[in-house]
Amino acid sequence: MDLEIVKHLKLPPQKVIKELHQLLSQRVGLDVNWSLKQVSEELLAGGCVVAYFKKSLIAGLIFRNIDKNVKEVTLMGTHQDHQKNQVMTQVWQEFLTLKTSEIWLEVAENNSKAINFYKKMGFVKSGQRDNYYKNRCSALLMSYTVEG
Ligand SMILES: CC(C)(COP(=O)(O)OP(=O)(O)OC[C@H]1O[C@@H](n2cnc3c(N)ncnc32)[C@H](O)[C@@H]1OP(=O)(O)O)[C@@H](O)C(=O)NCCC(=O)NCCS
Repeated sequence: MDLEIVKHLKLPPQKVIKELHQLLSQRVGLDVNWSLKQVSEELLAGGCVVAYFKKSLIAGLIFRNIDKNVKEVTLMGTHQDHQKNQVMTQVWQEFLTLKTSEIWLEVAENNSKAINFYKKMGFVKSGQRDNYYKNRCSALLMSYTVEG
């Protein structure tokens, strides 16, 4: 798949923020209710890596800088029509070009697609928050240590 991958540190143009908000809240199959303002605040605390296919934004990963060496993946997703096509894998490769020694994230224990993805990228479980979500699902805390 011929993708254009673009990395933004801090706030991208407003058009990209809107597209990313729409993608993550409506087109990836996640039950999130984030406002445009919340997405902008997260981007300001870190940035994003996005993928375009034929000029349409089809995947995005938002991250937050915890400190100089640690990043947290806040939210990520691939458009439902393009999942299982190695799109997020390509986004991830670009994300890893950013300087960091550790990456953290939190994922619902019933989100097997995402958990499989993170395990394939080398994440290990580092903790658990029981009954964390409204539906009583637990949150898994996962981390990845960058080699070298
Ligand atoms: C998780 C997600 C981002 C993966 O994106 P993607 O572009 O489809 O991922 P890729 O095609 O690059 O998949 C890479 C690996 O992830 C895992 N994976 C992806 N989709 C999967 C599925 N439906 N079932 C099982 N494993 C899956 C596999 O290990 C896969 O490797 P493989 O192709 O060799 O089997 C996508 O499923 C998604 O957007 N899900 C909804 C949003 C979400 O849950 N986000 C995470 C929480 S914020």
